[in-house]
Amino acid sequence: MRAPVIAIDGPAASGKSSTAAAVARALGFVHIDSGSLYRALTWVSVTRRVDDPTEILAGAGALHVGLRLEGTLLQVEIDGVDDVDLAIRTTAVTANVSAIAAMPPLRDWVNARIREVIERLPGAVIDGRDIGTVVVPDAELKVFLTATPAARAERRLAQRGGRVDPAQLAAETATLAERDRQDAGRATAPLQQPADAVVLDTTTLGFADQVARIVAFAAERGLQPPSGADIL
Ligand code: DC
Repeated sequence: MRAPVIAIDGPAASGKSSTAAAVARALGFVHIDSGSLYRALTWVSVTRRVDDPTEILAGAGALHVGLRLEGTLLQVEIDGVDDVDLAIRTTAVTANVSAIAAMPPLRDWVNARIREVIERLPGAVIDGRDIGTVVVPDAELKVFLTATPAARAERRLAQRGGRVDPAQLAAETATLAERDRQDAGRATAPLQQPADAVVLDTTTLGFADQVARIVAFAAERGLQPPSGADIL
């Protein structure tokens, strides 16, 4: 029997990863950031200069791209790369990750890695775009995290630091609205709200409140790590 899973899906910059990490900490579950696996495959594509999915997967195999547990977070590992988190968040990787995430064999590879690892965890909080619809459709709790493009743009710019002027905010809002349109309209694994998800609009909710709501939904469903569960 697999461990309990909380699926957190939603559009870009809706705060999925930080929320998922905090929920995992509160419940003693492990956080899996599915986007980081797409980013690692993109890193392979960019550094090896290959864009055929078979060659990207061969590169991923040669470099033992996979998941390693660090605290309650499963980090991506790539042979020979010390700071993978930094390497997979460069502008070059971010610019190419959408194209990589649209390739069905690469989606199958990411989904297989996630399904394989959750077998060995006490419980998982997985964030992404298709976790509740495709990857773990029978997840015990599905959350769809959303916020208006303007609210998401504001948070993203605040994270980068410095002063935010109205023109910058308008441009970022337009970029996010266009990303939403593309993500929802793409042929392969479009962003969709699972029919049975709890929808949390975080436009006016603070971070601590959104984490507390999800932990409360989990408690209502009796979600706890099995007693004596070992991590990996
Ligand atoms: O969440 P992120 O920005 O790190 O995600 C990187 C890319 O991967 C983004 O273009 C969306 C895509 N992605 C996806 O298609 N499906 C997922 N489950 C997770 C991410």
